[in-house]
Amino acid sequence: MTVDLHNYVATVENFPEDGVSFRDLSPLMGDGVAYKQTIDAIANFAKDLKIDLIAGPESRGFIVGSPLAYALNIGFVPARKGGKLPRAAVSASYSLEYGGENVLEIHKDAIKPGQRVLIVDDLLATGGTINATREIIAELGGVVAGVAFIIELKDLQGREKIMRAGDVPFLALMTY
Ligand code: PRP
Ligand code: HPA
Repeated sequence: MTVDLHNYVATVENFPEDGVSFRDLSPLMGDGVAYKQTIDAIANFAKDLKIDLIAGPESRGFIVGSPLAYALNIGFVPARKGGKLPRAAVSASYSLEYGGENVLEIHKDAIKPGQRVLIVDDLLATGGTINATREIIAELGGVVAGVAFIIELKDLQGREKIMRAGDVPFLALMTY
């Protein structure tokens, strides 16, 4: 059975601020069939990319990346928000969609030079989160082999921002 994943997105108007239509993926993640279909679709995209590791930014990237890594029998690397990791780490800062700045960090020994990494997240908005994750992986000598999302918010042109940082295989299961 295949379901229409759009039926598992709750749109919330004026959250977190006026004028924003927030795409909430909790219904998708809360449904066993829709969640598995989502992870399987990303696993299918990954199969030709010769991936060694999955990386996902805190926190919703963990909900996509962990089951994917398990399904592919490979490791998962968390890109954590600043100040959370206990050992030597590489960090990158980026601007948030609704204003302000954030920092992401990955442990220095999490990725070995030459390893091929697929970055995943629940949603692509401005692309700041993914480009920061990408920057860290590159600094560690990893190769970003692809990027995958459940949702891409087209108007914010995150895909264009990602491609400006270098062409990379791209998957979005839904666009809004
Ligand atoms: C959200 C979302 C993406 C990011 C997309 O995470 O899960 O990671 O924003 O925005 P961007 O493309 O403009 O960078 P958020 O920073 O809200 O953190 P959370 O997952 O902890 O809620
Ligand atoms: N929905 C969910 N998460 C988000 C959004 C959104 O519209 N924008 C940035 N993060």
